[in-house]
Amino acid sequence: MDQQIESLRTEATAAINAAKSPQEIEALRVQYLGKKGSVSELRRSIGAFPKEDRPAVGKLITDLLTEVTELIDTRTATIQASAQSAAFEAERIDVTLPGRRVQMGKAHPITQTADRIREIFRGLGFEEVVGPEVETEWHNFDALNTPAHHPARDSHDTFYFTDTTLLRTHTSPVQVRTMLEREPPLRVIVPGRAYRRDADVTHSPMFHQCEGLLVDENVRFSDLKGILAAFAREMFGADTKVRFRPHYFPFTEPSAEVDISCVFCEGEGCRVCKQSGWLEVLGAGAVDPQVFKEVGYDPERYTGFAFGMGIDRIAMLNYRINDIRLLFENDMRFLTQF
Ligand code: PHE
Repeated sequence: MDQQIESLRTEATAAINAAKSPQEIEALRVQYLGKKGSVSELRRSIGAFPKEDRPAVGKLITDLLTEVTELIDTRTATIQASAQSAAFEAERIDVTLPGRRVQMGKAHPITQTADRIREIFRGLGFEEVVGPEVETEWHNFDALNTPAHHPARDSHDTFYFTDTTLLRTHTSPVQVRTMLEREPPLRVIVPGRAYRRDADVTHSPMFHQCEGLLVDENVRFSDLKGILAAFAREMFGADTKVRFRPHYFPFTEPSAEVDISCVFCEGEGCRVCKQSGWLEVLGAGAVDPQVFKEVGYDPERYTGFAFGMGIDRIAMLNYRINDIRLLFENDMRFLTQF
């Protein structure tokens, strides 16, 4: 009997100490201590011993039972502890590692420039309107006093869809749309995209313009000069000078190209202004009476002025960008600099 107990003890000890999971431990508990387990069976065999031996045998078996129970409890605790430390290890966070930076988005330099232009004209009482990029030939050219064989149309290099629909070559057709929809007084700006067959370091087939239109009674050319000079000072700095050069646009008369004193050399003469000291930033003029007739305004009663500027060009000047294509390639190494 002693031997039987001894070998059961050795076997149980080895098995329990080798157990690696709570499931294995549970199986061993059933195997040794369960109703049909080895230790329980031993205890049942006690009746086979002579009466006087039974207390001694009983004690041996009880001791074995206690010992196996303790072994199981200890092993269970060990397994739980190592499972927990494995979990801790797996979830370990090294708080000394450098954090991952969140990339903050920023407005595109053209958007930033357009927003600034909007803000300045909003301050001067102008309201923003928009129009379609796919235009009719009539809105884009005819109504703007630029009929089919007008030489000015050659310079526009238009993208046509059909004989009469096209990608607008400037934002000026929105002047026409606005005047057809409303009565004076008008004071609007039109930021938007325009398209021409043209591509080099300073021209992109898609580019951005901001149109302006003011119509009322008694509007004078000096009002145009005043508004544009105020804009230039806000946009390019308080010391900016403005120069109007006579020019020709079919839809304004008289017309002018507007220069600002060079933002790079402050008028001294440099590579960007080609030593002239001036940079051309705008086209402008008094609305041609013919345009008023097209939209049904009385040219005897109303006068007005219009202007148009290249937003991309202004962005290039302000941010000192020398190739317009950089603005449209969306290379993050370029864009994150603004
Ligand atoms: N639409 C002209 C252009 O694209 C600019 C302009 C607008 C000129 C309004 C005069 C008045 O070149």
